Amino acid sequence: MVVLNASARLLLSAILCCSTVFASPTSKSSQNVIQLGRYSGTPAGAAYFLTNEPSGNYVVVAALKPDGTMTYTTAISNKGNGAHGNSTGPDPLFAQSTVKTSAASNVLAAVNAGSNTVSLFSINPKNPTDIQQIGQPVPTLGDFPISVAFNSKGTQACVLNAGGLTNGVNCFKIDKSLGLVPIKDTFRALNLSLANPPTGPANTLTQVLFNKDDSNLIVTVKGNAGPPVAPGFLAIWDVNADGSLSKNFTQVAPPVGGVLPFGTSVIPSSNALLVADPAIGAEIVDLSELSGGTSLSSSSKSSILNITKQGANCWTAYSSKTGNFYLADPPNARISEVSVDKNLKATVVRQYQRPPLSGTFDEDVVTLNGKDFLYILQANATEVGVMRLDGAGKARDIGNFNVAKPAQAAGLTINSVNLVGMTTFATRK
Ligand SMILES: *[C@@H]1O[C@H](CO)[C@@H](O)[C@H](O)[C@H]1NC(C)=O
Ligand SMILES: *[C@@H]1O[C@H](CO)[C@@H](O)[C@H](O)[C@H]1NC(C)=O
Ligand SMILES: *[C@@H]1O[C@H](CO)[C@@H](O)[C@H](O)[C@H]1NC(C)=O
Ligand SMILES: *[C@@H]1O[C@H](CO)[C@@H](O)[C@H](O)[C@H]1NC(C)=O
Ligand SMILES: *[C@@H]1O[C@H](CO)[C@@H](O)[C@H](O)[C@H]1NC(C)=O
Repeated sequence: MVVLNASARLLLSAILCCSTVFASPTSKSSQNVIQLGRYSGTPAGAAYFLTNEPSGNYVVVAALKPDGTMTYTTAISNKGNGAHGNSTGPDPLFAQSTVKTSAASNVLAAVNAGSNTVSLFSINPKNPTDIQQIGQPVPTLGDFPISVAFNSKGTQACVLNAGGLTNGVNCFKIDKSLGLVPIKDTFRALNLSLANPPTGPANTLTQVLFNKDDSNLIVTVKGNAGPPVAPGFLAIWDVNADGSLSKNFTQVAPPVGGVLPFGTSVIPSSNALLVADPAIGAEIVDLSELSGGTSLSSSSKSSILNITKQGANCWTAYSSKTGNFYLADPPNARISEVSVDKNLKATVVRQYQRPPLSGTFDEDVVTLNGKDFLYILQANATEVGVMRLDGAGKARDIGNFNVAKPAQAAGLTINSVNLVGMTTFATRK
């Protein structure tokens, strides 16, 4: 076996890259980098989402001004294909965290649900619109990967395979020159009975994430609102010091009334999670009583949050500046701001209407010049909505930034039903 050192690999990939470009001066849709617009100067940050097109998946990059407004700059090939689950309309992967940055290690990971691979990019922290793929996309060792999580140190990434018979998780070490390197004893099956592509959103997987101190890896599994009602669960593995995972997972039931555990955020002040649930609104899942058993009904501190007149709350984001969570309800195009107190009691602080029929899907919060901003993928309208978070209960609309025109002008294929993901990065000096 020939083992290449890092510089030889770089040289080889440079040769492969450029010979491909010279050999096929083809259509835009096979280009590696598509220019969408120009931003002069240094942006305050960047936002990223995925075209998730079955014919070729691109990471769409936007520059963020200090006032939160956006300029689309580039689309960069994720060197794989997107996919649409067996369902109609937007929300093709039934997932949260399809693309994710790590500020700790200046990288971005993105899934190719149609190619069963995941890609890693380096981010230039001084200008985060500048991203470069590291190595090649790696196989996720399962079907229909939909979600990726970084640990807090940015040394490990885990991916969730959500279709077919090999559904479950698998983890990688972050190597700045090689990319994603598989970690032994992290392939863990869920063995759920899923089609490929899965039929959803009921009875599908949603997200993989680490808990607050990286001691657990968590997967949210949706149930079925019925009738008959069949609640989903959270699958929770222990993460060992070397990054490997416990053989078995603990199965945690949502509190009574919770059915479809969807997008999830860690509650920073406790060992607990805020889980969006389109059956009821949301639920708090307390992990402090986890004991490595095989199953656990919810702890007494877990509870449901009944968001009245909700359509389907599915995505979550957390702001460290306001201390509150922002839940996205696509059918109502509405954001619900939720606070969680020390006793894990959740309350809706305020609700905000986004443009009707825009569909509020994936979200992320970023701090630009000391202020938090919420970025919302309003996929149905091929736009991103922006809100400035001036304080608890004080979110202000900044505007909606449509990607359709720059994409069309540049020859980038997008469809509202395929767009997924939202992640951000704040520029560092
Ligand atoms: C797609 O979903 C429908 C139900 O919504 C189901 O009848 C059909 O068998 C599914 N197709 C595949 C290929 O799984
Ligand atoms: C999944 O199936 C494999 C193969 O049958 C088995 O070895 C493994 O223990 C199963 N895991 C779970 C969590 O059911
Ligand atoms: C994992 O689960 C299997 C099947 O339930 C059980 O036999 C085994 O003892 C468990 N292993 C650990 C380390 O808990
Ligand atoms: C949620 O609130 C609504 C309106 O108050 C009520 O009709 C419904 O029964 C509540 N659901 C649960 C599970 O408590
Ligand atoms: C998306 O737009 C279509 C066409 O306007 C509309 O019928 C549908 O309800 C919208 N979906 C969402 C989630 O807003």
